Amino acid sequence: MSSRGSRSRLETTGFADAVSGRSSVRRYAPDPVPHEDVTAMVGVAIRAANAGNAQTWRFVAVEDADLRAAMKQAVDAVLDEMGAWPEAADLEKELRAYRAYATFFAEAPLVLAVFGRTYHSLADELHERRGLPREQRDRLRQRPDIQSLGGAIQLLCNAAHAMGYGSCWMTAPVLAAPAIEGLLGVEPPLELAALVPVGRPLTPPKPSSRRPVEDVLEFR
Ligand SMILES: Cc1cc2nc3c(=O)[nH]c(=O)nc-3n(C[C@H](O)[C@H](O)[C@H](O)COP(=O)(O)O)c2cc1C
Repeated sequence: MSSRGSRSRLETTGFADAVSGRSSVRRYAPDPVPHEDVTAMVGVAIRAANAGNAQTWRFVAVEDADLRAAMKQAVDAVLDEMGAWPEAADLEKELRAYRAYATFFAEAPLVLAVFGRTYHSLADELHERRGLPREQRDRLRQRPDIQSLGGAIQLLCNAAHAMGYGSCWMTAPVLAAPAIEGLLGVEPPLELAALVPVGRPLTPPKPSSRRPVEDVLEFR
């Protein structure tokens, strides 16, 4: 089948809308997200391909408003500290925008905190035993654990969209990972990877632009 044929076949499916209709939503209606919907979207997320099928992910669904506020406070505290650094003296405006980008999750009725832990393949193990420097080990493995989490988070956001919810994949709040992990009672080896606020969008999601596929795809 030609690529044009495959593309038009895709465009007529619900899959196409789940992918192309999703965009990041940053303002939410306060209506709670029923547990069965949360379970359904996380159920889709864990279908992601993942290194060694090790399924190193964990999800904590935060509904409690006080807990969400405490998580936001933790991010604000880190940003306050960074803002006081001499290196930040000329970045006041940028930091204000960044703070908004890092903290709006607290206004969503639900925040999914996504945690992961390190995955070790046999090659990783051998590289470590051999004493390869971390930089070189990372170059040769490209963090399969992080890639696996990325697959799951993307599916989570697409599933939320297919169910009529808005969401936003957020790593900026990970600045406050130790405090957020403490608030949620999550312990090593699990580490916070992202927060994903979920709720009914206050306004219809606006699609963001992408470079044409021809710009990023080559055939050899
Ligand atoms: C790894 C990753 C981290 C992101 N972190 C944030 C974040 O902390 N705050 C935020 O508002 N958006 C965040 N985003 C959303 C991106 O800004 C957004 O996906 C991008 O601008 C494309 O827009 P779209 O999702 O509407 O297609 C993140 C996205 C990814 C994939």
